[in-house]
Amino acid sequence: LANDLGITPPMGWNSWNHFNCKIDEKTIKETADALVATGLVKLGYEYVNIDDCWAEINRDEKGTLVAKKSTFPSGIKALADYVHSKGLKLGIYSDAGYFTCSKTMPGSLGHEEKDAKTFASWGIDYLKYDNCNNDGSRPTDRYPVMTRALMKAGRPIFFSLCEWGDMHPALWGSKVGNSWRTTNDIADTWDSMMSRADMNDVYAQYARPGGWNDPDMLEVGNGGMTNDEYIVHFSIWAISKAPLLIGCDVRNTTKETLDIIGNKEVIAVNQDPLGVQAKKVRSEGDQEIWAGPLSDYRVALLLVNRGPWRYSVTANWDDIGLPTGTVVEARDLWEHKTLEKRFVGSLTATMDSHACKMYILKPIS
Ligand code: GLA
Repeated sequence: LANDLGITPPMGWNSWNHFNCKIDEKTIKETADALVATGLVKLGYEYVNIDDCWAEINRDEKGTLVAKKSTFPSGIKALADYVHSKGLKLGIYSDAGYFTCSKTMPGSLGHEEKDAKTFASWGIDYLKYDNCNNDGSRPTDRYPVMTRALMKAGRPIFFSLCEWGDMHPALWGSKVGNSWRTTNDIADTWDSMMSRADMNDVYAQYARPGGWNDPDMLEVGNGGMTNDEYIVHFSIWAISKAPLLIGCDVRNTTKETLDIIGNKEVIAVNQDPLGVQAKKVRSEGDQEIWAGPLSDYRVALLLVNRGPWRYSVTANWDDIGLPTGTVVEARDLWEHKTLEKRFVGSLTATMDSHACKMYILKPIS
């Protein structure tokens, strides 16, 4: 969407994966504090996004959405002021239907202009717009109404389409929003995560600065996968130029989790100015090669072992878009090491089960 937002994939946090409906203003404020205290803000995580369940079931007499009095007693404007004072941005959630997915609060269908103005007046910077409980008309009829309302609301608001990929939003999303979900909801398991990665990969060619494919939010740190599996999760999301929206409780993170979501070199791949989504360029049984171009003629390479045993996999230059004779220097982004060996024509690595290797290859001659 040409609103000058999402020039690189958005980074931040969202309440849903960890808290579901159990959110309140205290949790959101403490999360903002934790993003600062952990240093995650400095790495680019800027959005603090409230998901479903933040509003009263009824609008007020003027038709305005009302923050839930029991959980957000100070209101959303005060929360936005707080979050902004920490150098962060505030995101909120609504739905292109009569009720949101939780059915605990109204959606914005038929109230788009009113709600867009309300969000802007509160200081909202990001809107996730879900698709539950709608009138049965097409998303391509309902979503652009909110796009136009946001464009008139007088404040830049990142627009995240959450249509779950049903109507192939990659094909129309770039005119409507800054990101679009290509999948139904992720769960905190290896199989769920990898299948979201596969569904999203199909649409790689449609991602570009201002509009990104969204395979759903991160589960890193929520406890359902091994550390290696979370490293694969974060690596695929990063190389796929997916939104990096942390989905764990950042007030209580372990060092292992912070080492993953705080890996500067992997984040830099996600935020590379070229903005091209990597693709799964080859798979051989359970072994996969993902690759895509980066700025300065570099290539991001990710080797993934989806199988149950330790295994080697070879990436050939032909598959990953490097001219055959190119000599490269390889930087291992998880070991934080530039390999001494130079590579020509191919690179082979060995990985444990459900683990990966991620490199930046830099042509040197
Ligand atoms: C849908 C969305 C989720 C989350 C929930 C909230 O399932 O896809 O990301 O926002 O609704 O109810």
